[in-house]
Amino acid sequence: MAHPADFAKGLSIGIIMDGNGRWAQKRGLPRTAGHKRGAEVFDDIVHYCNELGLSSAYFYAFSTENWRRPPEEVGMIMKLFGDYLIKAYSYEKENNKVLFMGDRTVLDPHYQDEMNDIEAKTAHNTGMVLNVAINYGGRQEIVGAAQALARKAAAGVIRPEEITEEAMSAEMNTAGQKDPDFILRPSGEKRLSNFMLWQAAYSEMVEMDVLWPDFTHADLDRAIEEYNTRSRRFGGI
Ligand code: FPP
Repeated sequence: MAHPADFAKGLSIGIIMDGNGRWAQKRGLPRTAGHKRGAEVFDDIVHYCNELGLSSAYFYAFSTENWRRPPEEVGMIMKLFGDYLIKAYSYEKENNKVLFMGDRTVLDPHYQDEMNDIEAKTAHNTGMVLNVAINYGGRQEIVGAAQALARKAAAGVIRPEEITEEAMSAEMNTAGQKDPDFILRPSGEKRLSNFMLWQAAYSEMVEMDVLWPDFTHADLDRAIEEYNTRSRRFGGI
């Protein structure tokens, strides 16, 4: 029988890690326990994505809107992210390129140093690109790209007509990578929630009724199978 890895090679997938809070509440645990379990699943699924031979994986860890959550919850997610950064150094050996999406300038300066260091140390790798979105917002990313091009136009480096879709794409956090073939959202929700608004123009949406802390390799296999049943026309017929 065909294994999902046979047809997952080269795919680019965005994953909205949702349902941590509900998973914890169902068990009478604090929401932070859901994030802790969610971080373990994240680590496991990243390795599986690598095994499957994806070209890019984009994980939504923390949005620009998530600061509105209670301070202990925000603190826990940031702590888990900090723990993860220590592990991320191992990706250097696994031939993965690691990139962080979002505005890192407001994060703990130690984290910023580590993020910059991990990106630099993995920049030459040729395997899957692992993208972790932290303090990320799709609208914010588009505004940033527009400002960058406006600055170039004001400085006379480009003409306004040179502000094209390609030029915008080149200013995004994902420059040079493939737009997600599909965006996966577990936990039954059907929203993008400000994730990859520019890049998702033609992405398929795959929703699943499993909460992120329960998410397994078999669930990712199922999502890829579901994606493969879709017929993508990119606006054509
Ligand atoms: C959404 O679930 C999840 C988040 C806002 C945080 C995601 C964070 C992790 C998986 C762990 C930390 C990340 C890294 C990179 C180590 P929710 O809390 O909104 O769930 P709910 O909708 O059930 O309340």
